[in-house]
Parts: sequence; C-alpha cells; structure tokens
Amino acid sequence: METVIEDVRVRKILDSRGNPTIEVDVITWNGFGRAAAPSGASTGTREVVAFPEGGVDKVISELEDVISSELIGMDAEYLEDIDLILKEIDGTENLSNIGGNTTVAVSMAAAKAAASSYNLPLYKFLGGNFATSIPYPLGNMINGGAHAGKHAPDIQEFLVIPKGAESIQEAVFANSKVHARIRELIQAKDPEFTGGKGDEGGWAPKISNYEALEIQARACEEIGDETGIEIRPSLDFAATELWNSKEEKYIYKQENIKRDTGEQIEFVKELIKTYKMFFIEDPLHESDFQGFAQLTKEIGDKCIICGDDIFVTNSEILKKGIEIGAANAIIIKPNQIGTLTDTYKTVKLAKENNYIPVVSHRSGETTDETIAHLAVAFSAPIIKTGAIGGERIAKLNELIRIQEEIPYARMAKLPER
Ligand code: PGA
Ligand code: ZN
Repeated sequence: METVIEDVRVRKILDSRGNPTIEVDVITWNGFGRAAAPSGASTGTREVVAFPEGGVDKVISELEDVISSELIGMDAEYLEDIDLILKEIDGTENLSNIGGNTTVAVSMAAAKAAASSYNLPLYKFLGGNFATSIPYPLGNMINGGAHAGKHAPDIQEFLVIPKGAESIQEAVFANSKVHARIRELIQAKDPEFTGGKGDEGGWAPKISNYEALEIQARACEEIGDETGIEIRPSLDFAATELWNSKEEKYIYKQENIKRDTGEQIEFVKELIKTYKMFFIEDPLHESDFQGFAQLTKEIGDKCIICGDDIFVTNSEILKKGIEIGAANAIIIKPNQIGTLTDTYKTVKLAKENNYIPVVSHRSGETTDETIAHLAVAFSAPIIKTGAIGGERIAKLNELIRIQEEIPYARMAKLPER
C-alpha cells in the first residue's frame, strides 16, 4: 500500500553543459523519489537512444501522460515490473521511442520512491544491510579529447585514485588536493593558463599528452608524500573518438601521430609501465574486442583494463567480452542501457565473472546523487564521478553522508595492481 504509485511528474531541467535533460518525480502513498538523467559526449554507438526526436519537450508534451497513466496504481517496489512496462511503452530495442534517458529517470525515481516509502535510503533498499563498502573515487584531473578544446591533450581523461585512503573523506580531499596541485603545475608550464576546465571539471590546458602525463604523475607523488596516501594515476583514452576507421589508425592530432592497433597497444602498455597506471579505460575503439583481449592478457595483471563504449552497460555485449577475456572491468552508466533492472543485470554478470564494476557519471551531469547510492548498493569498489564542480561533488558529498550512516562502513577492497 505504502509503495503504490499515485503520480509521476516529468520536467525539463538544465544539465552541467547547459543542455536540457529530464527530471522525474514519482510519488507514492507515503513516499517520494526524484531522479534526473545525465548525458554523454563521447557516447558508444550501441548505447540506447537518449531522447526521441523532439527531445525532452516531446517527452513532456506527448509522453508524460502515457507514462504516468501506465504507472499510476503500480507498486514502486516491483522495480522489474516497472522497467518492463517502460520498455513495453517504448516498444523498440534501443528505446528510441521514449528515450533511454526518460526510462532511466523514471526507473531510478521509482526505486527512490519505493525506498522512501519504507523510510530507507536507496543504497540500503537496493543493497540491504550487508552493503557496507564505500567505493574509491576515481577523480578527473585533466580533460582532453571530446571533453575539452582543440589545444588540449588527445587523451580524454587524466584521472587519479587515492587507493591508500582509509575513508571516503580522506579520499575525496586527497583528490581535490591533487586537482589543485595540477593547476599549479600546469601554470608553471604555461603562465597564460587561465584555469579553464573541461566538461567533467578537470583542467583543460594547452599542453601535450606527455606534459599532461608528467604533471599527473608528479602531482600524485607530491600529494601522496604530503598526505601519506598512495595515489595512482589512471586514464580514459575514449579511443573510439581517436579511431579513424578508414585509415584504421588512432589519430593523435595534437602530436601529429597515427598509431595502428599494434602500435596503440604498445603505446598503452608503455604508459602503464612508465607511470604505474592503476586503471585504463577504453584504450581501444568500441568494436575491437580482440585488441581488448590481447591487452588484458598481456598487462591486465598490472593495470585494470576497463571497457566503457565497448560494453555500454549491456549484459549481452559484456557476455561477448567475457568469452574472449576482453577487459577485466566495466563502466556502469545506467542511462547507457535505460533501466535499473538491466543495469543490475550487467553488474551481476560482471561480478560473477570477476569484472570490476565501476559506477560512473557522464560528462553532462546534474546534481542528482543517485549513482553514489548505486555504487554502494552494488558494492562497486570504484566510482568515477569527477573531483570538483557542483554536479560532481553532489555524488562525492553524498558518499560522505552514506559512510557516516552505515555502522560498519569500510572502504572497498581494491584489486591489487
Ligand atoms: P561521456 O564520457 O559521458 O561523454 O560519454 C565519459 C566517459 O567516457 O567516461
Ligand atoms: Zn569512458
């Protein structure tokens, strides 16, 4: 009774890029849930479609009534049923009729409404009493590629993870210290740097990939020494953006270098060894399962090899990767697949096969904090959600609150690398 849906409201709100996105309220007899959908810039081609033609306006003017009339009277607690109905309303494989951003916002808002009806936080409603591990924050420090201007590095994201931190507070402040130090180091290289940032709150400097790598490594070491916390560098190549399928080469515009698949694999391995990278995401383009498998086999024991655009949070595609050993970690972005049920299905499959689930933000975000709860509920050891900026700290600060609430909270066990 408490969890029966009484109303569903849909509205257009701003995202961090200033673009429109969707926010959904689900109201139950004695509960309330609100969730908003993020959006990507370097999206995988196999992701579900974010919005139908006509965008958020179409959802509000034409679809809100359809969705709410189907959901009113349903039990918000039955998440699978709700997600099934959403997929039925859409009726397509890729959710192009009502949009994956619409379904994901409704799906998450319904789960939050159910949790609230029982007076429970979402992480506990979904994860139960044994969800006590807090993920390590993988923070974005320097932005390049599709997330920054054309003079920024080709590699999309230079990240760090404070793997020696003993609490989430220690971890997020270590990341913010690295972020600040990196600004100083960039400024020392380029006195004209004005502090511009990319989409995910990392600095967007006019420096080369190698300069960025050196600065990233130095900042990790310096702040590591100052705080006594081991901090390790990581990268997201977002290599689909670098890949030119006609030439069959990865194009590093800024360096004026082209690398074929073999050269790209060697380059990635060299960076892992030189800089002791802890985590590498999308080192190869989204269709190169074989390349992923080769890299994982050759160096996956020294560095986490994570797939984002290649798997797009889709359990069927992940299955294909598991079969040949492509990657050993997977980015989990609920709006890539469209519902919480399907997101969970992918997380479960990943864990059963020793793939590390890394719950992640998108480059276009809102202050929605849901993914902080999902990371704890799924016992994901890593959350990728930036280091700085209102829409990023919304998640980080929520993790601080969650840690405080859980009696036996402890930092997740990270794999040795
Ligand atoms: P996106 O990229 O949100 O722009 O797709 C983020 C990432 O690649 O991790
Ligand atoms: Zn990525």
